[in-house]
Amino acid sequence: CGIVGIVGHHPVSDRLIDALKRLEYRGYDSAGVATIDGGALHRRRCEGKLHNLEAKLKEQPLAGTIGIAHTRWATHGAPTERNAHPHFSDGIAVVHNGIIENFAELKDELTVAGAEFQTDTDTEVIAHLVARLRRDGMSRREAMHAMLKRVRGAYSLALLFEEDPSTIMAARNGPPLAIGHGSGEMFLGSDAIALAPLTNEITYLIDGDWAVINKTGVRIFDIDGEVTTRPRQISLVTAPMIDKGNYRHFMEKEIYDQPEAISDTLSHYINFSDNQVVAVWRDTVFANVQSLAISACGTAYFAGLIGKYWFEHYARLPVEIDVASEFRYREIPFSPQVAALFISQSGETADTLACLRYCKEHGLKTGAVVNAPESTIARESDTVFPIFAGPEIGVASTKAFTCQLAVLAALAVAAGRASGTLTEKEEQTLVGRLAEVPRVMGQVLNSIRPRIELLSRELAKCRAVLYLGRGTSFPLAMEGALKLKEISYIHAQGYAAGELKHGPIALIDENMPVVVIAPHDRFFDKTVSNMQEVAARGGRIILITDEKGASALKLETMQTIVLPNVDEIIAPMIFSLPIQLLAYHTAVFAGTDVDQPRNLAKSVTVE
Ligand code: G6P
Repeated sequence: CGIVGIVGHHPVSDRLIDALKRLEYRGYDSAGVATIDGGALHRRRCEGKLHNLEAKLKEQPLAGTIGIAHTRWATHGAPTERNAHPHFSDGIAVVHNGIIENFAELKDELTVAGAEFQTDTDTEVIAHLVARLRRDGMSRREAMHAMLKRVRGAYSLALLFEEDPSTIMAARNGPPLAIGHGSGEMFLGSDAIALAPLTNEITYLIDGDWAVINKTGVRIFDIDGEVTTRPRQISLVTAPMIDKGNYRHFMEKEIYDQPEAISDTLSHYINFSDNQVVAVWRDTVFANVQSLAISACGTAYFAGLIGKYWFEHYARLPVEIDVASEFRYREIPFSPQVAALFISQSGETADTLACLRYCKEHGLKTGAVVNAPESTIARESDTVFPIFAGPEIGVASTKAFTCQLAVLAALAVAAGRASGTLTEKEEQTLVGRLAEVPRVMGQVLNSIRPRIELLSRELAKCRAVLYLGRGTSFPLAMEGALKLKEISYIHAQGYAAGELKHGPIALIDENMPVVVIAPHDRFFDKTVSNMQEVAARGGRIILITDEKGASALKLETMQTIVLPNVDEIIAPMIFSLPIQLLAYHTAVFAGTDVDQPRNLAKSVTVE
C-alpha cells in the first residue's frame, strides 16, 4: 500500500491524488482520500484503480488544506470501497501500510467496549483504539503513543484528528515513511518519489519513530516517547519521467530501455580502459568471505539463482540461495566466513528486509544489490551494489532483472579475481564479453519482434505453458514462466530440462507449448535430448537458441527464435529479451492490464 499526506495552506486533494499516482506501484486495488474542511472530516473512497477515485472527486470534490490518502494492496478484507482506507472512528482518520498482527485480539476487546466495526480490515482497530484512548482522557499525543505500544506488526501510518485541522500524526515500524519539508507546507509519503515534485528535502523515520507534523515542521519521537531528531537529507530522486514515450506500456518501454540501462550499470562496475572490474569486491566486507547466502523474492530471486551459477563457476565461491520468505526458517548454520547478499529492485520488500535483519542479528556481513539507493535495504546493508536501472514502473520486472544480472556477473568476476580463480587475462576476456551486452541487446530487440508477435498470438490461446532450460537457462526458464503468468494469467511453469522426465512430461500432449531456452553451450546436447522427449509425445516446441544451436538442431519445432552467438556469461541477459517480449505480447493479445496486473504490487511491504 502507499500513503501520502499534506498539511499546508493550499487545497490538497488534487496533489494527494497526484502523489498517489506515483505510489500505485505499491498496490492499486482501491484508494481513498480524507481531508478536514469546515471543522469536519470528509472522505472519498473507491474500489479499483486510482482513476475511479479521480472521477469521483471530479463529481464530488473535497476541499481542505490538510489531508491523507492511500492506495491499497489488500491483505485483510476484500478490495471493496467499504474496506478502502482512510478508516474513521469518532473524528479520527487513519491510513495504514502493513499488517497489524494482533488486530483480532484488539478488535474483540474494542467490540466488547462498544466499538462498531465497519470493515474487514486490520487497520480499523487503530482508529477505534485511538478514539477509545482519547475518551479515556488521554491527549492526542498520549493516545498515539499508547496505541503504538499496543499494536504489533509492521506498519506505516498517518492519522488525522478532526478536532485539530493543523496536524498529521505518523508512525513507522517496518514499511518506509518519508517526511517532506516544504515552505510553509509539510508532506508525508511512502517514498521520496511520491514527494518528488513537492519537495526534495526529506527526513526518513526509522522503525519505532512517530511524528507530529504541522505546516511549519515536524517533531519526531522515539518508541519511548522521547523527542529525537533524524537527519534531513536532499533526496537524489527526481520526479521520474512517468511518461511512456511512444510505447504502449511502461513494460514495453522498459524492455526497450535495456541496452541503455545495462550500459549505465556496466559503466559503474567496469573500467573499460583496461577491461577490468572496478574494486567492488576487494574493498568491501566481501573480500575474504568463504561462502555466500543469497535471498530475494520473485524476479530478483531468479537473478540470484543465475548469480549462484556464476559465483560458483567463476569464483569457486559456494552459494546458498533461498526465497526470502523461507530463508530464515531453514536455520542455516552460519559461520563468520559467510556473507549474505540480498537482491531487490525496490529495496523495500518485507520478506527480503526481514532476512537482512536476521542475518545482521547473526553477525553476518551483508550486501545488497538494489535499484533504489535510498531504500531501507540499501540503508541497512554494510555494502550496497546499486544496479542503476532507473525507475521501473511496470509491475513485471524487466530492466531491473537484467541490470541485476549485469551487476551479479561483474561481482562474480571480481570475486574470481580477488580469490585468484580467474587470471587477469581471463578477467579481461569476460569483461570484454560483458561490454558487448548493450550492443547485442540492441541488435536482438531490433530483429525478433515480428516472430515473437506471431508466436504470442498462439500462446494467448493456451491454458498452460512449460519452460525448460539447463544451467543458467534453468532459472531463466522459471523467470520466463513467472513473467508469463504475472501478466497474461496463463499458467506457466519453469523446469530444469533434465527434470522433465521425472514428472512434468505427463503434461505433454499436442496442446502443450514447451518453451525451450537452449543457447549452444556445454549443456546444449543434453537439452536437445530433452526436447526429443517432448517431440516424441507431440508437444509443441518453441525453441529459443542461437545461430550455432539452430544449425546444429535436426528437429522440427513449432517456432525457433534465433539469437546471435554469445558467450556463456552474457547469454542469460540476451536470452531474457525474447522471454520478456513473449510474455509482453501474449498479455497484449490476451487483453490484460500489462503494467498493473491483477492482485500484484510492485513493492510488497508485508511478510
Ligand atoms: C513483487 C513483484 C515482483 C518482484 C518481487 C520482488 O512480488 O510483483 O515482480 O520481483 O516483488 O521485488 P523486489 O523489489 O524486492 O525486487
